[in-house]
Amino acid sequence: MAAIDRVGRNLYAFVVHKFAIGVFGASGYAGRELCELVARHPGARLAFATANDRQGAHARFGGEDVTFVAAEDARLGDAQLVFSALPHGASARWVGAAHDAGAKVVDLSADLRPGNGYGSGAEDFASAMAHAPYGLTEHARAMVRGAEIVANPGCYPTVTLLALLPLVERGLVAPGATITVNAASGVTGAGMTPKRELMFAEVADDFRPYAIGNSHRHLAEMRAMLTSLGSDADLIFTPHLLPVARGILATITVPLAEPLVDVLAPWTEHYAGEPFIEVSATIPSLKDVVHRNVVRITATMAEGVRAPTVIVVAAIDNLMKGAAGQALQNANLLLGLEETMGLPV
Ligand SMILES: NC(=O)c1ccc[n+]([C@@H]2O[C@H](COP(=O)([O-])OP(=O)(O)OC[C@H]3O[C@@H](n4cnc5c(N)ncnc54)[C@H](OP(=O)(O)O)[C@@H]3O)[C@@H](O)[C@H]2O)c1
Repeated sequence: MAAIDRVGRNLYAFVVHKFAIGVFGASGYAGRELCELVARHPGARLAFATANDRQGAHARFGGEDVTFVAAEDARLGDAQLVFSALPHGASARWVGAAHDAGAKVVDLSADLRPGNGYGSGAEDFASAMAHAPYGLTEHARAMVRGAEIVANPGCYPTVTLLALLPLVERGLVAPGATITVNAASGVTGAGMTPKRELMFAEVADDFRPYAIGNSHRHLAEMRAMLTSLGSDADLIFTPHLLPVARGILATITVPLAEPLVDVLAPWTEHYAGEPFIEVSATIPSLKDVVHRNVVRITATMAEGVRAPTVIVVAAIDNLMKGAAGQALQNANLLLGLEETMGLPV
């Protein structure tokens, strides 16, 4: 911590100082991505990398050999910033331990996100934000900069909320509207724990929804965020499993108060100058975004319906902008570095 306060200058950090970064859950999908980003980051180095069942196993990140240690054996005092890529329920304890040891923390699990134990009302959202800002970076940049702990958003909420914010913040959504989100994710979104329904033969050449009936746990943080912005819209969110390794594509139908004359204007204006947001006149696909820390968004007015309705399509890499990439964006801000440092655009 003291090094962060004393160093303070980006150039100095870049040329001389490498921040020591620890990763909990480093053997998982998000954790491996984090380790690779840290190993290649010009202002960071890996201090420790933990695993549970795979403690003692070896991996290579950025050309360096790394041995996974148990979380209990991680030298917390060595790290100035810690990422937790542990499953929800297992993470909060280690977030607290790392913070107590003096590190800033970015938690990729749902444990500290609004709507998960903090309720979903505007007051609860404010208290969750004060405790650990919800790190949808493009929205919460100022709060993240001054924070000690950041709750990194989930992958589906990242793509959905970044697509919706320009409409919600401009009051363009019809009062009392129902917003329908159909989103499809690659299989890494489910983590590495073996499950029968995620085996190759079950997933390959198939396509199916899950958690239908508005039962996905990511709804809590999406609702909390929209409510905090004064939205009274309902959300119907249906995730789907895509037979690819990574990437999420969301198709979102939004009833509007008025038709949009320049349909892309809300997004181009809202996100002007944002390095990781691509507003596009063409329809995004996963190939546009995988292995990149970007969200690509387009929008089209629906024809042949009585109420003005816009269809927004947005795509991200669930492991990059939806997890490790956004986490590193937040970490860069916490450490006083350039937000884009070490991130693939
Ligand atoms: N995957 C995504 O697209 C994505 C996107 C956004 C956020 N997230 C969030 O990021 C976190 C990690 O997700 P993931 O997909 O990377 O999961 P994962 O592949 O299942 O990896 C989980 C990691 O945590 C370790 N672990 C599991 N149980 C543990 C315990 N009780 N104590 C200590 N370590 C434990 C695992 O070690 P072993 O390998 O040794 O078992 C592994 O390193 C989750 O909270 C998830 O919700 C994931």
